[in-house]
Amino acid sequence: MSGRRLLSILRIALPVLFFQPAIVLAGDVVAGAELFATTCISCHGEGGNGNGAVAGEFVLKPRPFAQAAFKFDTDADWETGSDADLMNVIKNGTAVYGGSDLMPPWSGLADSDIENLVAYIRSLEADP
Ligand code: HEC
Repeated sequence: MSGRRLLSILRIALPVLFFQPAIVLAGDVVAGAELFATTCISCHGEGGNGNGAVAGEFVLKPRPFAQAAFKFDTDADWETGSDADLMNVIKNGTAVYGGSDLMPPWSGLADSDIENLVAYIRSLEADP
């Protein structure tokens, strides 16, 4: 094999080998927003601002999603608010992770619904 040919193969193969993107959920933001509006908005408020109609009564209010100040590390990877953490919090509620029992488990939702919700929540994050 000529050096030049080897080089051109490496040029394609190396980036493929070393470029390992973080696992990105393929959630649908629009579907997530619709589900959020029927299921979550009463507490989490318009655009996830934390001021839902019933949240005024809460001692511990949900934090605005735009701040992305997520609290829970559900899979012990030293990172809070990863996609996996948000999926777990939505599925299992926050009480099991030592948080408020006012964030209920949504174990009845399909994983694809939860992925859509996470995509929507991510879309609310303000640009730094
Ligand atoms: C009955 C009120 C209520 C409803 C309904 C509700 N939540 Fe929550 N949620 C909360 C509260 C309160 C917190 C803060 C919990 C804490 O910090 O201990 C929270 C926290 C969260 C968090 C932040 C977790 C973190 O790591 O900080 C996410 C994400 C979340 N909720 C998603 C959802 C989604 C998605 C829905 C709809 C499927 C939903 N919630 C419905 C009350 C609610």
